[in-house]
Amino acid sequence: MLDDFLILIGRFHPLIVHLPIGFIVLGILIELNKKKLGWSNEALKFIFFWASITGVFSIISGFFQYQNGGYLWETVQNHFIAGVLTIILSFSFYLKLIENSIFKPIPRKLFTIANSFILIVTGHLGGNITHGEEHLVEPINNLVGINGEKTLTVKYYEDFEEKPLFSSLIRPIIDEKCVRCHNSKKSNGKLKMHNSVELMKGGKNGSIINYDTPEMSEMYIRIHLPKEEKKHMPPKSGKQLTRQEISLISKWIENGSSFEKSIKDFKLEENIINYFFDTEKPFFPLIEASVPDNESIRKIRKNKITINPIYKNSNFLKVSSINNLDFKNDDISLLSDINENVVSLDLSDSKITDSIFSQLKYFTNLTVLKLNNTTITGKKINQLVELKNLKRIYLVNTNFKDEYINIFTQFKNLQKVYLYNEKDNFQNLDRHTKFDNKIFEFGYYSLED
Ligand code: HEC
Repeated sequence: MLDDFLILIGRFHPLIVHLPIGFIVLGILIELNKKKLGWSNEALKFIFFWASITGVFSIISGFFQYQNGGYLWETVQNHFIAGVLTIILSFSFYLKLIENSIFKPIPRKLFTIANSFILIVTGHLGGNITHGEEHLVEPINNLVGINGEKTLTVKYYEDFEEKPLFSSLIRPIIDEKCVRCHNSKKSNGKLKMHNSVELMKGGKNGSIINYDTPEMSEMYIRIHLPKEEKKHMPPKSGKQLTRQEISLISKWIENGSSFEKSIKDFKLEENIINYFFDTEKPFFPLIEASVPDNESIRKIRKNKITINPIYKNSNFLKVSSINNLDFKNDDISLLSDINENVVSLDLSDSKITDSIFSQLKYFTNLTVLKLNNTTITGKKINQLVELKNLKRIYLVNTNFKDEYINIFTQFKNLQKVYLYNEKDNFQNLDRHTKFDNKIFEFGYYSLED
């Protein structure tokens, strides 16, 4: 109980520290403008008194965070010392302000400089603990071009883990950062790296891969040497490898430098995967459909059906019958030429019925389907189970029957089904026990005129 309380206080440390920081920053600002401000001395006494008090609380909470947060003393030591110094300085300045005789001879300017300095140091050391040493250094290095520039980001695809690590990730890095000096025309150190056969042959000192002791591989050693070393690869002047690229190449060598092994065989850490792959799955399908036929599109548009690409230059289309309220089941055949291009289909307010489902199942890339304000009851909606990309279905104000709701649980990628209604169609449904499922949006409402 007490332990938990102390842990809680510790967790608040990153928050509490902002109190003294705020006081000290405000104090320094007032001090710097004290000639303009007639009231500065009284305010400063108040401010540095409270900076010291809240500083003590920061130290206490910080200590609990150190005790319970699994930090090594070595890690926090300097931050701790800097923190204590911060408080001592604030309190000394307070004592000077109230004309304590010990601090009287020390010039005020010195306090201002020391206060500013120690605040930055303490804050920076604290930041290093929570965010890692590289937190600030990395973007600065990148800004001034010290670090390597990232070679590639691979768009996420369904079975990326099945692909060989070498051809998908290592090859592009070598091409970008090594091949310039190691190719058939220019082979520095007699080493060529532009294809796998040459890479295996090695350079003037033989193979650059050591299968028995991978860590002794010439390639491994050289990319790990400090940049200042003459033998560091790529040489100082060349495009450097990023930290993540070094660790990926290392992993590849450590695990036998295979050209065939797939990404999943290497059991890469999540942060490495996320670094190289844009793992955010896109909403619409990843494969691109073939270019829709212009003539067909013109024909469809003549029937007051709107067609738009989902974004510029995409072959995927958003189709709506909203301007054609007479749209009937048979009219869906108008779209037969562009079935695979339609990812969003809106047939709301039309005259369609449940027989439409036997046609909709051919829209293989359909992702969003809107059937609001129609007489759909849900009969035969199971035919849409085949639509692997279907993510959202809108069935607001339809006659959808509760007996068909179960079918949705068979849809593989469904994210939401909107079933709001003017009448409460689903009175008999035991929603909480049976449909404790986040995909359904229920509710009923009636709008007044
Ligand atoms: C700017 C040109 C340049 C780039 C880019 C470059 N190298 Fe080199 N590399 C050299 C030179 C010059 C030598 C020969 C001198 C030496 O051994 O240090 C060499 C030698 C080597 C050797 C030793 C070959 C042997 O048998 O002695 C290895 C291994 C190597 N490079 C790996 C790499 C890797 C891996 C990369 C990419 C990450 C790379 N190099 C990028 C210029 C380059």
